[in-house]
Amino acid sequence: MKVLIAGGSGFIGSHLCDYFLGKGDEVVCVDSLITGSKKNIEHLKDNQKFKFIKHDISEPLDLEIDAVLHFASPASPVYYLKYPFDTLKAGSYATHNLLDLAKKNNALFLLASTSEVYGDPLEHPQNESYWGNVSSTGPRSVYDEAKRYAEAVTMAYHNYHGLKTRIVRIFNTYGERMMPDDGRAMPNFINQALKHQDITVYGDGSQTRSFCYVSDLVRGIYQLLISDESMPVNLGNPNEMTLKDLAFYIKDIVGSEGKFVYQDLPEDDPKLRCPNITRAQNILDWTPVVGIEAGLKKTIDYFKYL
Ligand SMILES: NC(=O)c1ccc[n+]([C@@H]2O[C@H](COP(=O)([O-])OP(=O)(O)OC[C@H]3O[C@@H](n4cnc5c(N)ncnc54)[C@H](O)[C@@H]3O)[C@@H](O)[C@H]2O)c1
Repeated sequence: MKVLIAGGSGFIGSHLCDYFLGKGDEVVCVDSLITGSKKNIEHLKDNQKFKFIKHDISEPLDLEIDAVLHFASPASPVYYLKYPFDTLKAGSYATHNLLDLAKKNNALFLLASTSEVYGDPLEHPQNESYWGNVSSTGPRSVYDEAKRYAEAVTMAYHNYHGLKTRIVRIFNTYGERMMPDDGRAMPNFINQALKHQDITVYGDGSQTRSFCYVSDLVRGIYQLLISDESMPVNLGNPNEMTLKDLAFYIKDIVGSEGKFVYQDLPEDDPKLRCPNITRAQNILDWTPVVGIEAGLKKTIDYFKYL
């Protein structure tokens, strides 16, 4: 296959580039570098099957391609609040452009959606049939509603044009090449712990998240792409923990001397987050295999040498 990975210089996108190249496919990585880095794909520059194109996919592009994976969007609260209009365009114009490109090539299309479509969920754990509890005007709406729109337009191309589409709802993912300054809990805790600084916990730290190591996620995305499933599928690790427990865990592995400091919880921050992955297990025969300790050690090692 010749695969277009939009957002391929970002955290997850760069791991997808590695994965498809490892399978023998050709990869075209298209990225505007708004939040990604060429360092993430530096090791691929001499690979004959790899091509990088700097382009903002909110503007159309034309290529011959067999599969299109849309991973191009600011993804962390720090970045989507800094780039609200780029985030809205990534969900809307960019999704249209990539769907048009897939349609023109009769190619497969896969959308990176998010657990944020469930908002601050009233159902726990979240399964794909839950419609969510999302504010259309709050600070997170530029990201959450853009992704909900992106899902809607993807389903419309599937239903009205017969395009082969896939939607993955990604829950918190971590690993090497996460950006150290993107403001999410995991890189914050690791950075502060490595520098023996105080560790900032928002709220009382009792809010929960479920962290999936990136290699598990990427394997699931590939399995979804080659499946026949057009309805959304959750991918994430159901091993739920409080953010305070995660902070303790990281402090312990690093041997940090920092103490915990508490700040106000950001507006609309979800209190609970845990995927129900029954559909992924049944349809894709997928289950995450990397435990939190092994994943954290690899991630911490990566951050040590940045
Ligand atoms: N990391 C997670 O835990 C997580 C969870 C849920 C969903 N996702 C989704 O997965 C995708 C990738 O997330 P990530 O964590 O790797 O983020 P990231 O910021 O590391 O990667 C996104 C990439 O997209 C590029 N990009 C953004 N807008 C673009 C545009 N208009 N044109 C071209 N390139 C553009 C950025 O430069 C960056 O390289 C995003 O769509 C995100 O919403 C990620």
